[in-house]
Amino acid sequence: MSSDEICMLYHGLLLPKETHSTESLKFVQEYTFKDEDVVAVTYPKSGTIWMQEILPLVLNGGDLTPIQTIPNWDRVPWLEEKRLAVVVDQLPSPRALVTHFPYHLMPPSFHASKAKVIYVMRNPKDVMVSSYYFHQMAGFLMDPGTFDEFMAKFLEGRVLFGKWTDHVKSWRHTELGDRIMYITYEEMVQDLPAALRSLSDFLGSNLSEEVIQKIAEHCSFKTMKVNSMSNFSLVPKVLMDSDKSPFLRKGVVGDWKNHFSSEQLARFTSVIRKEMEDESFPLPWSLD
Ligand code: A3P
Repeated sequence: MSSDEICMLYHGLLLPKETHSTESLKFVQEYTFKDEDVVAVTYPKSGTIWMQEILPLVLNGGDLTPIQTIPNWDRVPWLEEKRLAVVVDQLPSPRALVTHFPYHLMPPSFHASKAKVIYVMRNPKDVMVSSYYFHQMAGFLMDPGTFDEFMAKFLEGRVLFGKWTDHVKSWRHTELGDRIMYITYEEMVQDLPAALRSLSDFLGSNLSEEVIQKIAEHCSFKTMKVNSMSNFSLVPKVLMDSDKSPFLRKGVVGDWKNHFSSEQLARFTSVIRKEMEDESFPLPWSLD
């Protein structure tokens, strides 16, 4: 299949047709945000499904029912995807959503509301590696080609949702004030209970230490990997083939070191560094 058959272009961004449509993108622009809505924002492969596991539990006091009975895509739907229209009326309050949209594509009602945002950022080298394997297992996406070819596409933004640097920068320059919290995938890997405490404080959930530990246990990589509501095993193999690469693949920090040659590292670093040079916000990892 050609890339035109697989993807659509929306404001210059490539989106997979399997999960997105002109109707779904119209639906989101007309979606009415409520003040109590919570939206986790990620560039793809930065920890989206992890937040789909965490958010319902942080918002409901640790009741495991949603993560044990509802697939992640219906439990915390993607704002821009087709499923939102199907499940929107069944979402409990406060509603939790995820999105890969850059800031400027958020619908008008989002800006008028007091909905809170959690922006999850991940080291772009690990994002690229994770995405490379994801493209191998996802039958509804383009073949990634060689690792080197995929790196070139990633750096030029010829990948889903465009350039990593544009996405990160767009969500740093907002007028959201204390409506947005920034967290990194790496912090979550390093100390999940600490990350959960910060999320609980930000969302006003007031969770006890006992509940924090319970949520951390149920949102661990090991537990999520065997949760059929979260590991995409319910999806037909033709769309997602975990024999090629499981969706919950490694769940570690620094897997890029097993993939980048020194030449690729130099190329990758120089592009990202240049595009981030005018940014004042600190990155929680070294670009080298
Ligand atoms: P890897 O491919 O590096 O293993 P997204 O949900 O945004 O598509 O991101 C997918 C990445 O998040 C995958 O990375 C996946 O393994 C990782 N991930 C998902 N749940 C995780 C968890 N509980 N702990 C650590 N990593 C997790």
